[in-house]
Amino acid sequence: MTGIQPSDFVKRLDKTAEDTEVLLGKLLSDEVLSDEIFRPKRLIEAMRYSSLNGGKRLRPFLVVESAAVFGVARQSALLAGAALECIHCYSLIHDDLPAMDNSDLRRGRPTLHKAYDDATAILAGDALLTIAFDIITRDEIHPEAGVRLALTRALARASGVGGMAGGQILDLAGEGRFGDREPVDVARLQQMKTGALLRFGCIAGAILGKGSQKECQALDDYGRALGEAFQIADDLLDVEGDAAALGKQTGQDAALGKTTFVTQLGIEGARQRVRDLLAKGDSALSIFGNRADVLRAAARFVAERKN
Ligand code: IPE
Ligand code: IPE
Ligand code: MG
Ligand code: MG
Ligand code: MG
Repeated sequence: MTGIQPSDFVKRLDKTAEDTEVLLGKLLSDEVLSDEIFRPKRLIEAMRYSSLNGGKRLRPFLVVESAAVFGVARQSALLAGAALECIHCYSLIHDDLPAMDNSDLRRGRPTLHKAYDDATAILAGDALLTIAFDIITRDEIHPEAGVRLALTRALARASGVGGMAGGQILDLAGEGRFGDREPVDVARLQQMKTGALLRFGCIAGAILGKGSQKECQALDDYGRALGEAFQIADDLLDVEGDAAALGKQTGQDAALGKTTFVTQLGIEGARQRVRDLLAKGDSALSIFGNRADVLRAAARFVAERKN
């Protein structure tokens, strides 16, 4: 049992979501920054469409709560969380494109390419990816440039060819998009396409808080387990979830011929794998004692979520 009641957990998650919303609203304004020339209305509106008014904001929450373990100032963690959320929103925009998963609904609304057009969606994704790196390098993140650099490098590696983007191409390859269907290493694919960004959320706190090697490793282990569990839960929701609650279509993975742990292990096997991963994540947190109670509750939330 953790020391956090489910209702208190939801309140904390909601508060971080609210704070992230306010911050993103400011960061994605039409105000031109130094070294920028102009922010075109259509592009900034498209970025706002896909980043504001929705989402659980789990990734910023993980940054804030992993940072809280080390007593890091909330405002710094929120800023790093906003950068991570920009990358997540970009990944969703591109994931939904006709050339990828071809999804019409996201966060209860038409996907960006449906509401605007493919070119605007591609560019809004590009611009969100880029602004994330503008944000993560800002002085307010941490007074020491070395810490900002470590954070920036970790975010780049979580997002790129060896992380999210790499995982996305493995996901498409697994559908047989590029020729013969190859055997899929689902664990690796999911650690990359989804796990990498969630793991970054967990290690970001340790980087900001200058945790010891042991503490960084513990959050790394927790983040890996949580990230993998999160995607399996997403795959389960695609099969047995409620589209209205999810705000996105269900049954998409089967329609596209995706290989997931649900196809490989069946529903019960996939559920068991989530439980095993959460136990692993939980034990990784033991060195923090009750300072990690919120992170423990976050793992339970990932497994039990309905949206
Ligand atoms: C959806 O992520 C995409 C996956 C990585 C499975 P979330 O379920 O966190 O989406 P939002 O941000 O709450 O909309
Ligand atoms: C999305 O995985 C992973 C990324 C966006 C990187 P999914 O394709 O399963 O996500 P949903 O189900 O569309 O949200
Ligand atoms: Mg996808
Ligand atoms: Mg998808
Ligand atoms: Mg999915």
